[in-house]
Amino acid sequence: MFENKTIIITGGASGIGAATVALFSNAGANVYILDKKKLANVVSPSIHYLQCDVSIADEVKSAIYSILQKTPKIDYLFCNAGIHLFANIEESSYGAIQKVFATNLLGTIYCLQHVLPAMKQQGFGSIVLMASDQAFIAKEQCAIYGASKAAIAQLAKSTALDYAQYGIRVNCVCPGTIDTPMYQTVLEQLQQKTGISESSIRNQVAEKLPLKRVGKPEEVAQVVSFLCSNAASFMTGALVNVDGGYIIQ
Ligand SMILES: NC(=O)c1ccc[n+]([C@@H]2O[C@H](COP(=O)([O-])OP(=O)(O)OC[C@H]3O[C@@H](n4cnc5c(N)ncnc54)[C@H](O)[C@@H]3O)[C@@H](O)[C@H]2O)c1
Repeated sequence: MFENKTIIITGGASGIGAATVALFSNAGANVYILDKKKLANVVSPSIHYLQCDVSIADEVKSAIYSILQKTPKIDYLFCNAGIHLFANIEESSYGAIQKVFATNLLGTIYCLQHVLPAMKQQGFGSIVLMASDQAFIAKEQCAIYGASKAAIAQLAKSTALDYAQYGIRVNCVCPGTIDTPMYQTVLEQLQQKTGISESSIRNQVAEKLPLKRVGKPEEVAQVVSFLCSNAASFMTGALVNVDGGYIIQ
């Protein structure tokens, strides 16, 4: 399905990003991972790993420059790298606030700044940004994280508007709770704060979803694949829930 296509996936070393790397690679794409975490072993010759902290503008610039030296075009970009902050406003240190915004929001902006000119020149491209259900709703202890994700949803719409004229589509996935290492960390923090066991918290979270379970990273990857593909050729600026029905309640 993605033969001769090239995709850049940030945060591709873990969780939703890693599932998306696997999906695209298995479908024949050439995949470039930008992640600050070292990748232990790259399993396929079509998967290329570049160590890059997306919160540092110069690192993003040189990573994307080096990709453009190797490939004549970039078909897709999935800005997925992100970090969580489980804290209310008072508990959020200046450093933690800056790190969340620098990674989630600025990291996304830096990637867009360096990929959009190439897509503009080639006259096509499909971009997916990673927001969250918190683009629409609030969750306890998530003020800073939620604000960063709501800003990304807005960024998707603005960028879609500015770049539609160049044949570039920009959409946004808004997952609910997905079982990844990030969710595992939140569970551990919740356990510490409440004293409730991790398995009870898991059950309580699942019970709140209409589908009565949390999502799998692969289920988000499928939606990213659809949004990138020509099957979504008339979609741009869309915020797509992948949340087991959580926000419809
Ligand atoms: N898991 C969920 O429930 C959930 C829900 C909604 C949205 N999301 C979003 O999905 C995205 C992926 O999350 P996940 O759950 O797979 O988490 P994860 O922690 O498993 O993966 C995140 C990846 O991003 C990378 N990363 C973090 N900071 C980076 C930086 N500065 N530069 C480069 N790479 C960096 C990490 O090294 C890691 O590989 C995040 O943006 C997250 O906010 C997750």
